[in-house]
Amino acid sequence: MTKKFQTLKGFYDVLPERQRLWRYFEEKVLYILDQYHYQEIGLPLVEPTELFVESVGSHTDIVEKEMYSWEDHLNKDKLTLRPEGTAGCVRAIVENSLTYNGPVKLFYRGAMFRHENVQKGRQRQFHQVGVEAFGLEKPETDAEQILLLGRLWKSLDLKNITLELNSIGDPKDRIVYREKLISYFEDNKEVLDDDALRRLYENPLRILDSKNKQMQSMLNSAPKLIDYLSNDAKQHFENLCSILKEHNLEFKINTRLVRGLDYYNRTVFEWVSNDLGSQGTIAGGGRYDYLVERIGGKPTSACGFAIGIERIILLLEDLNRENNKILPDIYIVNLGDMARPFAFTIAENLRNDGLKVGLNMEGSSFKSQMKKADKSGARVALIIGDQEAENKIIQVKLMRDDGIQESVEEKNISLFIKDKINFEK
Ligand code: HAM
Repeated sequence: MTKKFQTLKGFYDVLPERQRLWRYFEEKVLYILDQYHYQEIGLPLVEPTELFVESVGSHTDIVEKEMYSWEDHLNKDKLTLRPEGTAGCVRAIVENSLTYNGPVKLFYRGAMFRHENVQKGRQRQFHQVGVEAFGLEKPETDAEQILLLGRLWKSLDLKNITLELNSIGDPKDRIVYREKLISYFEDNKEVLDDDALRRLYENPLRILDSKNKQMQSMLNSAPKLIDYLSNDAKQHFENLCSILKEHNLEFKINTRLVRGLDYYNRTVFEWVSNDLGSQGTIAGGGRYDYLVERIGGKPTSACGFAIGIERIILLLEDLNRENNKILPDIYIVNLGDMARPFAFTIAENLRNDGLKVGLNMEGSSFKSQMKKADKSGARVALIIGDQEAENKIIQVKLMRDDGIQESVEEKNISLFIKDKINFEK
């Protein structure tokens, strides 16, 4: 008996219909990234496990329970499928001395892997576009990245999205705050759930992020980190807020926003859609001025974010727009043993001339091939039988101009079609 295989839980095929939306999204985002002068960097899917432990943090959900890690039995290396892109990007700028000549603005895209509970908008293999700026400490960089995202949502026509913003200060600001927070939680221990109790001394800030309904009123009254910021951090945050206001970007300050990765300081932000249920964050990021040094580089300020592509695709699907289906310019119908190789050559020649060509290779009846030509959405159908192959003359049917049909000599075919469809390259 043959065995059938299925994708693993949380891993998905992207079927052509959805992949088209994906491409639509990528075209928009790439255009905007070019506008803001970010350059693309390609990064490996696999990195040393230690890189993520050091950067994302050993007491985060990602490192504690979500990484696909293993030991390479050939050389005993401890490896991990990247759960996010910032760590690898920082490794790459340090390894290649990319900031040697000053600041760099980079982006990457591709698959990330986290062994999470699967639900709508939460997968085990998902895809991000990540953006990172290095060597830029002023709040204009944070503002530029946030405005870039606002511009992207607009260009994709996405509505119902809110920006949540917070500053979590610098590590030294957090020393006093951490003690205050722990003692507040200790006073409210009876309200803490198991997760919170587990994090109490390891990562108390993360408790603020909890969605547990029973804990909300206690969390709302907890001491706020924003009240413990140094003057510099406060000023940085105020400047960021005023730039955003100046550019009419609405935001909500969420003093409980801390994000689930340990490398952040000062600015943190999330863009949340109200149309996706509980997994509504479509992009998140912030500043991480201490990470480059931690990973072995010189002290370098940094700021970035990542967009979750699948979540954007879900929103685009809901918009139900007839998206940019890529249609062939030409569909070639052919019938007969002489017609087949002739049609094949014509198809290749037209592609040499830059045209998009669908070629019927099934040899089905003329009627069924014409139906396929119609369905393909091509502007022009070429009809080739053995007689046409012999005389080197092709029947050209203009599908959208009342189906007008003309005979055209093979040598003129490309120019004829380009003229009819106003082809521009
Ligand atoms: P993150 O918040 O972990 O940040 O992920 C960014 C985005 O990726 C999320 O807002 C969400 O849209 C998407 N995402 C995360 N996990 C999943 C999942 N399991 N399934 C589907 N989508 C998911 C980071 O990864 C940081 N590296 C962002 C960053 C870059 N910060 C600074 N630079």
